[in-house]
Amino acid sequence: MNNSVTSATYIRNISYSLRRRLSDFLDPQDRWRDVAVSIRKPSGELRYSQHHVRRFEGLVAQGRSPTEELLSDWGTTNSTVGELVDILRSHKLLAAACVLLPVEEASSEDAQPASPALGSESARPTRLLEERAPQPSAGSSTPQPQTLQESREPADTGFSSFLYNELMKITGNFDDRPMSDGGSRLGEGGFGTVYKGLLNDTPVAVKKLNPMDDTSMDELQVQFHQEIQTLKVLKHENLVDMVGFSCDGQHPCLVYAFMANGSLLDRLACLDDSPPLPWRRRCLIAEGTARGLDYLHSNHHVHRDVKSANILLDEKCVAKISDFGLTRASAKRTSTTMMTERIVGTRAYMAPEALRGEVTPKSDVFSFGVVLLEILSGLPPACENREPQFLMEVRYDIDDEDEELTLEDILDKKMGDWELGQVETLYSLACNCLQERKNRRPVARQVVSELEGVVKSISLDSQA
Ligand SMILES: Nc1ncnc2c1ncn2[C@@H]1O[C@H](COP(=O)(O)OP(=O)(O)OP(=O)(O)O)[C@@H](O)[C@H]1O
Ligand SMILES: [Mg+2]
Repeated sequence: MNNSVTSATYIRNISYSLRRRLSDFLDPQDRWRDVAVSIRKPSGELRYSQHHVRRFEGLVAQGRSPTEELLSDWGTTNSTVGELVDILRSHKLLAAACVLLPVEEASSEDAQPASPALGSESARPTRLLEERAPQPSAGSSTPQPQTLQESREPADTGFSSFLYNELMKITGNFDDRPMSDGGSRLGEGGFGTVYKGLLNDTPVAVKKLNPMDDTSMDELQVQFHQEIQTLKVLKHENLVDMVGFSCDGQHPCLVYAFMANGSLLDRLACLDDSPPLPWRRRCLIAEGTARGLDYLHSNHHVHRDVKSANILLDEKCVAKISDFGLTRASAKRTSTTMMTERIVGTRAYMAPEALRGEVTPKSDVFSFGVVLLEILSGLPPACENREPQFLMEVRYDIDDEDEELTLEDILDKKMGDWELGQVETLYSLACNCLQERKNRRPVARQVVSELEGVVKSISLDSQA
């Protein structure tokens, strides 16, 4: 991965970009803390006390990376990459170890056997990124597909690592023709192409990452690992389920449970002649998505790319938030805002402060406001030949008394059984989420309870 770094390289000589990549692994869920408390002085004494750890912790609120600060402090000694990698491996932070040293070197001495059933040769290219026991799933109903024989890992130890060749096999050599033409391609995004495959009769979606115009291979690697780390720790019925990954081939791949109803974006557009989503179903999807967001935020994560293309629908149309490659652990307690130099996300969904580089859960709430407008109107979030170009701006025209546009004008008439009071509640919730000033927006928990109210009123109506 980076040939200039060896076990003997001094920590202080690790390049800026490698430090950044390491912090992308170690900042979330405070994994840097496990590293800090394992560092010893040459005398054998621990280098950092709880007091030191709290000082590093305090940096999060200032928008700084504790991992980077830890490395620069430790770098004032003659400690080496080898020592750091040993610590990372002792905490099973293998993905972070791989950032510094290629798999063979990082795992040469006491590599964990990938599976007792495997010989060491076949095990080498695949490695389980086991870190912590997965937290109990909050009602996740998606069955975990069986993994391929060659790379089977015990189901309770985390994700499976697949051989790239096996993923090629199950996707018909990554057949780029659309499913309707007999191919395997489900869709394409900014970071790669998604294919359908069958894993021992269970359908899965394989995302083959590909560096596109403005994404480098390095950034892609960070996103790849970020997605794995996030989904390993966070499990919820409204977050997509990851099955495994592959990192031994030409392209890193991520393997997910297959979502039979595709993305909310495609279903609102009735792509491939799919039937329009009825009103109640739309409200349930909004409620499910808000629950997923609330779960992410209560676990100190900011998604940073909430949009209808990243809300997938399973066979029962249950909403699952996907794509955690840009997700960041948010600052805790005193401040909920961090700054970043890398402004990421999708313009048509981005809050004003996200465009300035702030990372706060309130920006996810803003983006969710745009999704609510899409659900109500069935309109795409951005359209060049439309006035206004961005859907988020339609609220100004509706609220402006000089404009003739009303809420009813923009409603998606295809949703059939809508009721005006409920539609108005959803619209005013969307407008609250879209408040320019972040402190005026509701938190995800409040959004969930508003939506619960709407769903309840629909159920009561249908009983009457
Ligand atoms: N688990 C899945 N099951 C079924 N279809 C999926 C799955 N994951 C992705 N897809 C399909 O692949 C498409 C592309 O997904 P992808 O995440 O690569 O791009 P995107 O969400 O449109 O953009 P971005 O790259 O910004 O996230 C989705 O819109 C969806 O139709
Ligand atoms: Mg996506």
